[in-house]
Amino acid sequence: MPSYIRVKLKPKEEDRLLAGHPWVYANEVDKFPKSLSPGALVEVVTAKGSPVGRGVASPFSKILVRLLTRGFDRDLDESLVAGRVAGALRLRGGLAEKYQTNGLRLLFGEGDGLPGVIADAFGGENAVVSCFSAGLKPFLPVIVRALQEGGYRHIYEKSVGETCQKEGLAEFQGWLTEPGTLPMVFTEGKAKFRATPEQGQKTGFYLDFREARRRVAELSRGKALLDAFCYTGAASIRAVLGGAADVLAMDSSQGALDEALENARLNGVEGKIHFEKGDSFHAFKELKKGGRMFDGILLDPPPLAKSAHDLPAGRTAFKRLLGQSLDMLNPGGFLVAASCSHHFPWTVLEGATREAVEESGRSFRLMERLTQPQDHPIHLSIPETEYLRVLVLMEING
Ligand SMILES: C[S@@+](CC[C@H](N)C(=O)[O-])C[C@H]1O[C@@H](n2cnc3c(N)ncnc32)[C@H](O)[C@@H]1O
Repeated sequence: MPSYIRVKLKPKEEDRLLAGHPWVYANEVDKFPKSLSPGALVEVVTAKGSPVGRGVASPFSKILVRLLTRGFDRDLDESLVAGRVAGALRLRGGLAEKYQTNGLRLLFGEGDGLPGVIADAFGGENAVVSCFSAGLKPFLPVIVRALQEGGYRHIYEKSVGETCQKEGLAEFQGWLTEPGTLPMVFTEGKAKFRATPEQGQKTGFYLDFREARRRVAELSRGKALLDAFCYTGAASIRAVLGGAADVLAMDSSQGALDEALENARLNGVEGKIHFEKGDSFHAFKELKKGGRMFDGILLDPPPLAKSAHDLPAGRTAFKRLLGQSLDMLNPGGFLVAASCSHHFPWTVLEGATREAVEESGRSFRLMERLTQPQDHPIHLSIPETEYLRVLVLMEING
């Protein structure tokens, strides 16, 4: 049986944790041993000494403990972690068919009971895993073994970036198992895509935007589309394969655009998409001056509010972007506008959109609100797990 180090909360800090939120912040804790090492197993108790849960320590992070159990009935050991992975894989059982893809998020951190750990499958036996929790890092070999038991033979780790620094984790990227081939090629709808963990953003591909891409492709048939933050071209390519007449795909990253061209070639549609490097926040003015008009515009910018503090500026930037888009949208056109920040609630997204539309003097239907697909499950008690919000809008003609 593992032994646990006791961590005691300050008075009145337990409610959120007892309700199921797993993050224990360092400033909520009254007493913990100075020698707490990364990955130490801890038992968190309230100020009065009642059990809260068992978790793992990240002593250099603001989030000192991530809880994996509620109460003290269950031991925090390899079988618990392997069981969480197996449960997450079972949940994905029908999703490949539902979403017509073999690119799925297999582990979505808190949403799968494994705080700070994500894994994406790209094609048959390939997966990319990231661990952004010093506490969970010692369990990574267990997680990898459980993924292998689930059929993923080639597992690449990509744990890099600011979060690693905050956690005091050494950055790492490379194969953890028998190497597979890079890029990892997978299918989504009728399209084939390359995931490039070694050089791309995140794990190499934005699997979370799949349903929005499907909608954009449906709406773009016979139409001229502007994909303003195209990354590696996935939405543009799905649109062309779905019958779009003309696509302008823009991104500020040359690396992303190079990959977008590779993806377009893979699908035989390189002649049908015009890729352009640019800062969309500025390029829109030039496009408008040049008289460019589109039947549909997709806006999937990077997070516009990385903290609650950024929200007002993010809202202003988003509204400006929408206003400029409306100036380039043909009558009866559609807009798909997304935010990928959990700090940007629906009320703000819709409020900014409504104001931009009202100021344009035009009238739009809100056709759909999309959120992240089911392989990115939202934890009911952890608001941070809901981060992707997409509005699908279509103008009322005449
Ligand atoms: C959330 S990703 C878009 C993902 C894309 N919709 C997909 O389906 O793969 C946001 C993209 O915006 C790009 N980006 C960031 N700032 C930009 C800017 N100012 N202008 C244009 N693109 C930008 C990033 O390089 C990134 O590729």
